[in-house]
Amino acid sequence: MSAPTPIDAPPHILHLLSELHKLSLEQEAQISKTGKVLSTNVLGDLEDKGSATNPQEEFNQLMLDKFIALDEDKCQFTYQLINAMGATNIIEAGTSFGVSTIYLALAIAKTKAVTGKSGTVIATEKEKTKADVARKYWVQCGSVVEEQIDLREGDLLETLKGDLPEIDLLFLDIWTPLALPTLKTVLPRMRPGAVVLTDNTISGAEGYAELLAFLRSPENGFRNMTLPFTNGFEMSVYQPRSE
Ligand SMILES: C[S@@+](CC[C@H](N)C(=O)[O-])C[C@H]1O[C@@H](n2cnc3c(N)ncnc32)[C@H](O)[C@@H]1O
Repeated sequence: MSAPTPIDAPPHILHLLSELHKLSLEQEAQISKTGKVLSTNVLGDLEDKGSATNPQEEFNQLMLDKFIALDEDKCQFTYQLINAMGATNIIEAGTSFGVSTIYLALAIAKTKAVTGKSGTVIATEKEKTKADVARKYWVQCGSVVEEQIDLREGDLLETLKGDLPEIDLLFLDIWTPLALPTLKTVLPRMRPGAVVLTDNTISGAEGYAELLAFLRSPENGFRNMTLPFTNGFEMSVYQPRSE
């Protein structure tokens, strides 16, 4: 017998989440041989195709209507981790249509209620059309989700430059070349014990080479583990040495 979902949410939200995961997987199966989209692989395929248009532009265009949502089990793990840590301030690097954001919002709503702390999910999306769709899904969920989210539209390397609280958790679900610059932007605001979660660190190891080298260099203060989810899910705990 499989365990019931750990997500504590009203039935209409659970139903919406399951529909959105299904749509996302159907889309990914259409554009990837492996059934899962990795930005570096999709871009590489477009470059190999040698099409007349600019591959990066073609890639951006292709991704405009794609969810590429975090796998359901990884979303559930993240929800559990947030509750266990009592995390209330989270940055999501890469929001798309806001599926994983719903889990983050539900989780901090719970930790805020238990701990009495304030907090926000800072979501980031560069494509306005995607941000608009994400907002619609959050409205469908209702205030328990909607009220937790500060969606910053535009390039996250700009939108995360200022006005950040002390961060408990950074979720990296962004095109691989942006992962390390994003971490470096947020790092000064991360509290000791903060967690960085990075998706697809096994299948995307090549694209993430610089990020993983940074996380795994002891002087940078992270302790890392690749969790055995499909394609890998890196959990890095920030424990800088005290001076
Ligand atoms: C893998 S998807 C995020 C999926 C989402 N976390 C989920 O699980 O539902 C990555 C998203 O990052 C966005 N993105 C790419 N470059 C960005 C940038 N420079 N700033 C903000 N968002 C960006 C893309 O448009 C895309 O929607």
